[in-house]
Amino acid sequence: MSQQLFGIWQLLILMAFIDNSMEINYEFTMEDERITSDCQDEAAGTLNIDGLFDWSNATFEMAEEGVTLSGSKTVVWDIQPSDRVELLGSLYYFDRGTWQPTTLNMVIKDFCSVMFDKNQVWYDAYSKHIANSADVKDSCYRVKGSVIHFETYTINLEFGSGVPFQKGRYAIRLKFRAFDKNGKIRSNEICFEIKGHFLKKSGWMK
Ligand SMILES: *[C@@H]1O[C@H](CO)[C@@H](O)[C@H](O)[C@H]1NC(C)=O
Repeated sequence: MSQQLFGIWQLLILMAFIDNSMEINYEFTMEDERITSDCQDEAAGTLNIDGLFDWSNATFEMAEEGVTLSGSKTVVWDIQPSDRVELLGSLYYFDRGTWQPTTLNMVIKDFCSVMFDKNQVWYDAYSKHIANSADVKDSCYRVKGSVIHFETYTINLEFGSGVPFQKGRYAIRLKFRAFDKNGKIRSNEICFEIKGHFLKKSGWMK
């Protein structure tokens, strides 16, 4: 359950890969029930998604129109409030038995400073629905034990893309990394992947 929720949230981050030209409407569907998987070949000390949040007080319901999220998640990442949090995203495509990198990568140098930026693609589908945004704006994911409350809302995973996606399996690899005041990276990086497919929504083309 907790992994699913986390995965759903992370799909919203995916939209940061995509510019807003809205050429084609896509929906990302997840491959299996587990939703997320651990990254391979990562440095010692790298944590998976459970190293970032505890989702045990969050609930979600699958409905016809999508997933309804409510409750809260609790930050469990052990970093410092003055740290800079960087988000790296990269998209992989499964081709003839191996995961191949694509040209779709993103680096958000200071995730916490743009987490509630209305111009970010994840705002409408995620940040906007954080009920205690005034608190989270400062703490972001940097205060272990802090709680992020959600309004009850239905997540919409459709998005427009100027980049065409092929049929087949994709993996979104997401990494959160923290840097201390001196710019030194902390060893407790977070890394995980979400595998799934892009479905073209029919009847919506520019
Ligand atoms: C879940 O909520 C209960 C009751 O408010 C609280 O005692 C508990 O610490 C919470 N768990 C997490 C992981 O935040």
